[in-house]
Amino acid sequence: MAGSSEIGLKSACVIGGTGFMASLLVKLLLEKGYTVNTTVRDPGNHNKISHLLALHSSGNLRIFQADLTDETSFDAPIADCDAVFHVATPINFASQDPENDMIKPAIQGVVNVLKACAKSNRVKRVVLTSSAAAVTINQLSGTDLVMDESNWTDVGFLTSTKPPTWFFTTIQGYPVSKTLAEKEAWKFAEENNIKLITVIPSLMAGPYLTPETPSSVALAMSLITGNEFLISNLKGMQMLSGSISMTHVEDVCRAHIFVAEKESAFGRYICSTVNTSVPELANFLKKRYPTSCVPTDFGDFPSKAKLIISSEKLIKEGFNFKYGIEEIYDQCVACFKEKGLLKN
Ligand SMILES: NC(=O)c1ccc[n+]([C@@H]2O[C@H](COP(=O)([O-])OP(=O)(O)OC[C@H]3O[C@@H](n4cnc5c(N)ncnc54)[C@H](OP(=O)(O)O)[C@@H]3O)[C@@H](O)[C@H]2O)c1
Repeated sequence: MAGSSEIGLKSACVIGGTGFMASLLVKLLLEKGYTVNTTVRDPGNHNKISHLLALHSSGNLRIFQADLTDETSFDAPIADCDAVFHVATPINFASQDPENDMIKPAIQGVVNVLKACAKSNRVKRVVLTSSAAAVTINQLSGTDLVMDESNWTDVGFLTSTKPPTWFFTTIQGYPVSKTLAEKEAWKFAEENNIKLITVIPSLMAGPYLTPETPSSVALAMSLITGNEFLISNLKGMQMLSGSISMTHVEDVCRAHIFVAEKESAFGRYICSTVNTSVPELANFLKKRYPTSCVPTDFGDFPSKAKLIISSEKLIKEGFNFKYGIEEIYDQCVACFKEKGLLKN
């Protein structure tokens, strides 16, 4: 039963249920007794949705077909739900056309999902999954910076500045799409009187239900797996956003449910536990897993993060993080070993 400070929510729609975070969110909602509708692009592809089909035994789950670019496909899955979690986003880091592959469909998706929420007279709360990439990317000068919910990524800086590394160009579309999509969501919600909350996670890692290894887990694990391409992406991430910030995926899911249910919750909420740098992370991992071949010599690469992103607002609201960096990596390593992706 809902406490006095909680909204009584019984049913939820999760947009993009196949994803790393969304599939765990579906599972946690079912375990809490919610009736869950979820949307996928291709319900006929049983390999891609096998992890969702397995969740039917955990509770009352219905799977709908919907695409972010299809205006009316969200009406049916959202119509009978108290809460909507808009998690899906187009991600294509190799895109040569980020405008059409990521930016336009992300914005269009936000509008289409929120239009369906506005049509329903049942939806009490909408939670949009944003990203630290919509907060931290700016002309960062100085060190020991602290960023919170008042900060926004500078899209002008991203689109006009010449890239300092090759990484910048290939990944540029994602932060632009997340920033513009979140801004569009706030505009639409205000104009249409929708109770919107955004959750802003940093890099998510942890065990996964998906058949494939999620790209963010592969990135977080790159120092342990020795994947040189992903290690250079991790370094690019530090250069671009000022730090390597990380959160356990389960904490991110718990934070989504927490803000949806909490009467007093409003606005944006950063959800991030770890703030570090690539060299600091590598030293931590080498000590914790001494038999792994984690590199520790990074030459003149910056050894310290320039900034921390603060989850103070979420914590003050009453949220408790369950996992720190030790648990994130212990669980990822155990998961990789179990799946045969790591030997020792
Ligand atoms: N992972 C991270 O480290 C991280 C960090 C910060 C924020 N976030 C945000 O958290 C959310 C979840 O991330 P994730 O890593 O769990 O994502 P993910 O595993 O890559 O899943 C992305 C989801 O978006 C769906 N999608 C993509 N294009 C779509 C379209 N046109 N129409 C409908 N659905 C579409 C995909 O559906 P299909 O299965 O049909 O392809 C998939 O379910 C995203 O909003 C992401 O920006 C992630």
